[in-house]
Amino acid sequence: MAARKKTPARKKSPSKKRSSSAAQRDALALLRADHQEVQSLFDKFEKTRSDDRKAAIAEQICNELTVHAQIEEEIFYPAAREAIREKDLLDEATVEHQSAKDLIAQIESGKPGDELFEAKVKVLGEYIRHHVKEEQNELFAQVRKTKLDLKALGERLMARKQELMAGGGSEGARGGAEGGEEGIMSKMARGMGLASGT
Ligand SMILES: [Fe+2]
Ligand SMILES: [Fe+2]
Repeated sequence: MAARKKTPARKKSPSKKRSSSAAQRDALALLRADHQEVQSLFDKFEKTRSDDRKAAIAEQICNELTVHAQIEEEIFYPAAREAIREKDLLDEATVEHQSAKDLIAQIESGKPGDELFEAKVKVLGEYIRHHVKEEQNELFAQVRKTKLDLKALGERLMARKQELMAGGGSEGARGGAEGGEEGIMSKMARGMGLASGT
């Protein structure tokens, strides 16, 4: 009797709207979206005049990149290393992450107004652009040809990302002229009991 034909609005293929269904993205799409997001932050940084805005954007850049690098290193790179032949790609990517982290640490402990601060953000942006290009054009291209379960990997990446973001991003870290800025990631790491050395 109950004509149950009308299925309630159930969006099966969110092809148009790819907003918050991030959990369903495969690993490559998720990482790619991170890349785009951080790229747009670098663009914003460049266009902004206000020091306050610059500080906030730089902080967000550092925060996002650190989380991104961490999920790649913990989850994506090891999985890729198992799956692809060209391990060099992963070695190089890991070294690039280290250099990026070094710059990130310098940016986190600096502030706008210092000429070098802007230079560092700019160089980090160029560096990341290069790194992303290699990841997307070489690493991702190879990974896509393997039998890796990219959906499952995407879920793990997303779960870890959310965990890291929830770990301490709420403090608004660099409050301005407070001195003794600690860097949001160290705070996050401490918050999670990760005290990750250096
Ligand atoms: Fe990377
Ligand atoms: Fe990446």
